[in-house]
Amino acid sequence: MVCTTDRYASEVGAQILREGGNAVDAAVAVCFALAVVNPEAGNLGGGSFLLARAPDGTLSGLDCRSVAPARATPDMFRDEAGNLGERSLLGPLSAAVPGTVAGLWEAHLRLGSLSWRKLVEPAVSLARGFIVRERLVASFPPHIVEGLRRFPESAKLFLPRIEAEKPVPPRVGDLFSQPDLTQTLARIRDRGADGFYRGETAELIVAAMARGGGIITHEDLTGYEVAWRDPVRVTYREHNVVSMPPSSSGGMTLAEICHILSCFPLHESPWHGTQHIHLLAEACRRAYADRNHYLADPDFVAIPLSELISQEYGRERAETISPERATPSATVAPGEQPGDPKHAGGAHTTHLSIVDASGGAVALTTTLNTWYGSKMVVPGAGFLMNNEMDDFTLEPGVPNAFGLVQGEVNGIEPRKRMLSAMTPTLVLAPDESLMVVLGSPGGATIITSVFQVISNVVDYGMQIAEAVVAPRVHHQHLPDRIQVEPGGLPSSTTAGLDALGHVVSEGEEFWGDVQAIRVGPDGQLEGVSDPRRGGATVGL
Ligand code: DON
Repeated sequence: MVCTTDRYASEVGAQILREGGNAVDAAVAVCFALAVVNPEAGNLGGGSFLLARAPDGTLSGLDCRSVAPARATPDMFRDEAGNLGERSLLGPLSAAVPGTVAGLWEAHLRLGSLSWRKLVEPAVSLARGFIVRERLVASFPPHIVEGLRRFPESAKLFLPRIEAEKPVPPRVGDLFSQPDLTQTLARIRDRGADGFYRGETAELIVAAMARGGGIITHEDLTGYEVAWRDPVRVTYREHNVVSMPPSSSGGMTLAEICHILSCFPLHESPWHGTQHIHLLAEACRRAYADRNHYLADPDFVAIPLSELISQEYGRERAETISPERATPSATVAPGEQPGDPKHAGGAHTTHLSIVDASGGAVALTTTLNTWYGSKMVVPGAGFLMNNEMDDFTLEPGVPNAFGLVQGEVNGIEPRKRMLSAMTPTLVLAPDESLMVVLGSPGGATIITSVFQVISNVVDYGMQIAEAVVAPRVHHQHLPDRIQVEPGGLPSSTTAGLDALGHVVSEGEEFWGDVQAIRVGPDGQLEGVSDPRRGGATVGL
């Protein structure tokens, strides 16, 4: 079963499984396909995390996160007056060295079974042209179109229609062709990772940088290295939750939330009643405080990971929760209220979940950071560069694009990975059999989205579809408030939370785009693509 944000991509994955490929083969092919059909988030110019379970139960974590270029400096985004502008989010300087292609190549070499050529070819074919569906059209809200218009090559590719003398996005039913991307993918198909990090593609990236004021060099590209990492593994009510360690914060934060809530009989509190949301928010507040303070690239910073993910630490944190009162975030960890985030939530990353016939599974989350990343298409190469540099702490106390107030440990350093929230996750049943494969986009909200789906299943006995569709809430320590999806909580719960001293803020946007597969006790697979944005699950 293949569960992704786009039907074209899910069908590519299903075809690979039909041809005898394993879950990793399908994930590689799907990831390339998403770079073509979901260009707002699927990528060649971004980074990813892959979590795989082999049929014998072996777990592997692959970190192919983007890294800062060698010439990056802590002050690179300050103007002459010392102010931070938009350059950490827009244009070539916002781009970190991409890791996705190296990661897919490495996953293929170590865990794949079909030929590389077979995995990349479907994306080449989609890049020649596909018929536009609603999913792509919905990725062009006005502010994205404005951003793309600032880069002629991006406008030429993504705004191919002219209306009222202005370039505009394609419409449903148009044939969308990407000739430069077709060539780039063909080079990757023929030469593996070298088709991206060396030769013509690399020349085009470096030339784009030189022209636009970016700093990525040939040495950055050839020097990019993926990292295999031991997944984080914790117990939640006798289930095993397995997720990504740093440089993603997903596994650690999820682990702390699980351990704190293990101390409370959550299922005794009615679902989405005051006590349920109070405890959830208090657990998340504490876990994000630790995330924001302690986590960064483990190759640069010593992280007390085993302490943070220990059951004992979760218990200590749980003891500080009052059942009758919200704990102000300022007393959970030092820090000033930083004001409103630039925006919260969204779904600018993309996740895929796959289970093969032998019980092999892959959860893979991939991103350009915000939608269409830096907005800069590499001229002649047809793909977007990420704007991942904004995930670093640009200034302590100042929220990033997801409102996260992160620590000094996550400051910019040459060749360092910026901290991520991507949370590809597996849940194993008490007998270690595979139970759920899941993940989501959504920046800071990724971790709480993943936790809520797990809790809906484990604590509240929901079917997987119900668990994914259910409205979500989110707390990330700062800003000190419970964010709620539109219409997400009954008014009685909101009133109850107010009375406990919480600030509850219901927004206008839904967040996340969860792709989840549930393996039933009889081995039956049930998949659900979050209806919030409309992906597709294909089962064989
Ligand atoms: O790695 C991260 O945590 C972010 N760059 C992910 C961005 C994301 O999920 C965008 N979606 N809203």
